[in-house]
Amino acid sequence: MSAQNAVLQLTGVCKRFKGVIAVNNVDLDLRAGEIHALLGENGAGKSTLIKVITGVYTPDGGRIEIDGAAICPKSTLDAQKHGISTVYQEVNLLPNLSVAHNLYLGREPRRFGCIQWKKLQRDARALLQRFSLDIDVNELLSSYSIAVQQLIAIARAVDCAAKVVILDEPTASLDSREVGLLFQILRTLRDQGTAILIVTHFLDQVYALTDRLTVMRNGEKVGTFVTAELPREALVSHMLGKELQAMEASRASQHTDSVDPAALQLRELSSSNGIRNINFSAQRGDAIGLAGLLGSGRSEVCAALFGLDSVTEGEIRLGEAPYKPRSPAQAIAQGFALCPEDRKTDGIVHPLSVRENMIIAHQAQRGWWRPLRRSEQNKLVADATQRLKIVCSDPEKPIGELSGGNQQKVILARWLMTHPQILILDEPTRGIDIGAHAEILQLIRKLCAEGMTLIVASSEIEELVAFSNKILVMRDKRLSTTIAGQDISENAVLAAIAEPD
Ligand SMILES: Nc1ncnc2c1ncn2[C@@H]1O[C@H](COP(=O)(O)OP(=O)(O)OP(=O)(O)O)[C@@H](O)[C@H]1O
Ligand SMILES: [Mg+2]
Repeated sequence: MSAQNAVLQLTGVCKRFKGVIAVNNVDLDLRAGEIHALLGENGAGKSTLIKVITGVYTPDGGRIEIDGAAICPKSTLDAQKHGISTVYQEVNLLPNLSVAHNLYLGREPRRFGCIQWKKLQRDARALLQRFSLDIDVNELLSSYSIAVQQLIAIARAVDCAAKVVILDEPTASLDSREVGLLFQILRTLRDQGTAILIVTHFLDQVYALTDRLTVMRNGEKVGTFVTAELPREALVSHMLGKELQAMEASRASQHTDSVDPAALQLRELSSSNGIRNINFSAQRGDAIGLAGLLGSGRSEVCAALFGLDSVTEGEIRLGEAPYKPRSPAQAIAQGFALCPEDRKTDGIVHPLSVRENMIIAHQAQRGWWRPLRRSEQNKLVADATQRLKIVCSDPEKPIGELSGGNQQKVILARWLMTHPQILILDEPTRGIDIGAHAEILQLIRKLCAEGMTLIVASSEIEELVAFSNKILVMRDKRLSTTIAGQDISENAVLAAIAEPD
């Protein structure tokens, strides 16, 4: 029997992979007109459960019902026919097709068998307007940032939806304005009777948006709760299976008045990707936060420092010497490392194992003619796995088999192995669960204490404020404000972001 109002009912759903029970005997009911959060640590089984519901994986057991009738979706398209529409954790559209075509892929308007391109473009424009997105629908999807691609994927899913919309970490790459926009759309959909299931690691969003929530741990369901009736601490301990250690906010120590030469200095830097006149300096042990809205130039500063974009004007100095990287290889050779924002395209190397993905940068730095012995590799990998608490039963398995958050940690481990002087982290906690989030912030402080210089771009102001000793607020590809030391607060950063020109 389905629960009252359940549009989607799962009973005893199981999914095993070789050696791992990813989803174990999970029941879940999703009701019409509710927003339901699916929560749990990295590797808890959330994405796997969603992939079972949406036809990517065939379950090893259990029942899936829509409106009381059993279904076994064979593909996402099949699930869509049953009224289930999805946005996955990674954007799964086709980068080499236009935005318009991506929005209507597999459901193109046709007449006499031919695609009606004009209508498709018109519809695409109208759809994006509902999201207040100013996007040229004729451009290739790949010409937009990962965040905009994510919004396009969401627009597509919402437009396809009949009964159930499922979103796996849709907000990970969005800034607060876009998150607001998305929430508005989700609330409207809910009020129209759609059932929405959403995975997120942001607990504020859970409380702001959802009616009920289900917590998973180690592949099993811990329970379903009415959001408003579950205190935050109780939620966290359900997720972790223990209490979260209180985190005291301690910044990297202040080095701004130091007489040492700056470890890194940017003077009037402009680059080929549009950033202009950036000035700042960082000492050893500094944590420099890069704040600003999406598209403000945060990631571009990271890319220029790492040799991904060329410097057109101004200069960078590394210690006493000029530094002008022409490629990431040169940047790495000079002691830089960059942990990128979009792990799917810039980070993980798919056919390779977890071990190979971890050691690749360190090996490249040593030179391929000096291969690391297997025993050395195993030791490095074991140490990093332990240090970053990566959930991985066997480092020889393909990295694609790890959960999203654990893949993110593997990339971080890769760069830490190169012992960089300057570590650039672009959205380091994207997709990382609440326990690991606290650990990564601690790690940032520890690396600073060891003398590393960190440049961290993040859309989470709270996290930047927690560890930065200088925050650069970017706007329109320029540096709009620098906030340092005691002046750093969430309000100060927010005010600088919002400040009119
Ligand atoms: N294709 C696969 N092959 C083998 N194992 C897999 C595969 N996909 C997931 N797993 C394993 O199943 C478990 C659950 O992973 P899943 O991706 O569902 O976690 P998650 O809750 O979505 O985590 P995250 O918050 O990190 O995204 C993990 O142990 C993962 O390594
Ligand atoms: Mg996941």
